[in-house]
Amino acid sequence: MSRKMLITAGPTHEPIDDVRYLANRSSGKLGMAIAEAAHSSGWDVTLLLGPVAAAPPAGVRTIRFESTADLESILAEHFPNCDVLVMAAAVADYRPESTGRGKLERSSGGLTLRLSATPDLVAGCARTRKPGQRIIGFALEEPEKLAARAAEKLRRKGLDALVANPLATMGDDRIAAELFLPDGQRIKPEGRRVSPDAPGPIDKIEFARWLVNWIDANLGS
Ligand code: CTP
Repeated sequence: MSRKMLITAGPTHEPIDDVRYLANRSSGKLGMAIAEAAHSSGWDVTLLLGPVAAAPPAGVRTIRFESTADLESILAEHFPNCDVLVMAAAVADYRPESTGRGKLERSSGGLTLRLSATPDLVAGCARTRKPGQRIIGFALEEPEKLAARAAEKLRRKGLDALVANPLATMGDDRIAAELFLPDGQRIKPEGRRVSPDAPGPIDKIEFARWLVNWIDANLGS
């Protein structure tokens, strides 16, 4: 029986009222590319996909979510049955404390939104995982803070690996990411160059294939 990979991708939309939301610029491209690569590599893939315009990869079982609350309840159902979770979704850090009914009316006095922190979904999965379940997280960081923050997030969230991206990755077709491991190792896709003189960034599809090969070789059994 093939092993199960659960992949989350895309942004969350946090409702302000029935017509407005808070969102981020995630395109879901990398998570969708990982889903496609894992499917081709023989994994039984379930993709949890946020509100993006692009169609999910053909042949991949896909469940759609809108908000962090939706994703939290879908993960509660599907995480216990997977072997590997790849948490590429750009989950909101804050959401409106309350959601207005209908459409908030414009007022010349302005509007103050109170936001509260969302639960850390991937850290919650890591806390409740069964022996053998593996979790890969992502981090989007300013380049000068990337290494320190990636190592700190990997430890704090209890992950098996973390893909650290510079901010420019969001929405782009290419990525210049590194994989951080709990033993302090940092791994980059080797030998991939977009131009003869400059290493990376590489196409997200190519990065996704490299990451799935790494998972097959290192977290595969
Ligand atoms: N993540 C999550 N739940 C959240 C926020 C983030 O599961 N509420 C996950 C993301 O899917 C990603 C990882 O945590 O795999 C890192 O996300 P990031 O936004 O970089 O980290 P934060 O913990 O939100 O840290 P900060 O906002 O301080 O950078």
